[in-house]
Amino acid sequence: MTAADFVPAGATMDKLRKASLACTGCELYKGTTQTVFSKGPVGARLVFVGEQPGDIEDRRGEPFVGPAGKLLDKAVAEVGIDPAVIYTTNAVKHFKFRSAGEGKRRIHQTPDASDVSACRPWLVAEFELLSPDVVVALGATAGRALFGPSFRVTQSRGVLMPWPASAHDSAAFAHDGDDGDRESAFAMATLHPSAILRADDRDVAYAGFVADLEVAAAVLSG
Ligand code: URA
Ligand code: SF4
Repeated sequence: MTAADFVPAGATMDKLRKASLACTGCELYKGTTQTVFSKGPVGARLVFVGEQPGDIEDRRGEPFVGPAGKLLDKAVAEVGIDPAVIYTTNAVKHFKFRSAGEGKRRIHQTPDASDVSACRPWLVAEFELLSPDVVVALGATAGRALFGPSFRVTQSRGVLMPWPASAHDSAAFAHDGDDGDRESAFAMATLHPSAILRADDRDVAYAGFVADLEVAAAVLSG
């Protein structure tokens, strides 16, 4: 099963968002609060793609509103990107977790390739409507979702690539609309903000994250 049966053809972002709330395209909706779709304007110049909602995002229904989101917001402010030009989404739209016991804390589980591919029709549909100047994959899961299974964030972080990325499966990313006089677009990857929070030397990891985001910021100001 995949999300494909739930994605309405030719829909606006609002219609996609509403339709996603009813998605049962894989098992991950079970036991969650809701689908966490995206935030930000369809005309965004920068698109962040994360992994999946966390516990707080699942409760609030918005991506990147927990600790990882706070760190991302801080780094975005530091490199001088206007938050109003950002669209933020995830490779997987439901929180994958395991329970530490009855009524206990829900512990994040990394989505695997089959989860990402089940949820991919949503991401593809989003990119049909978006026309960003730069797309930033946050972490390995997003990197593989956008650039294919052999993509390695640690090797390629901070490096601009052409966007849309070359097709690695039948559902390639494209943009259907009129781009007017838009110049070519770029994509890049960096670490996931949660990896910065977990790093042994947080200051060094954070500085590297900011340096990567400066590459994206330069595209926007260029
Ligand atoms: N981590 C993600 O990858 N996405 C979110 O929305 C929150 C945390
Ligand atoms: Fe649908 Fe994606 Fe949720 Fe699976 S994770 S149920 S494909 S929205």
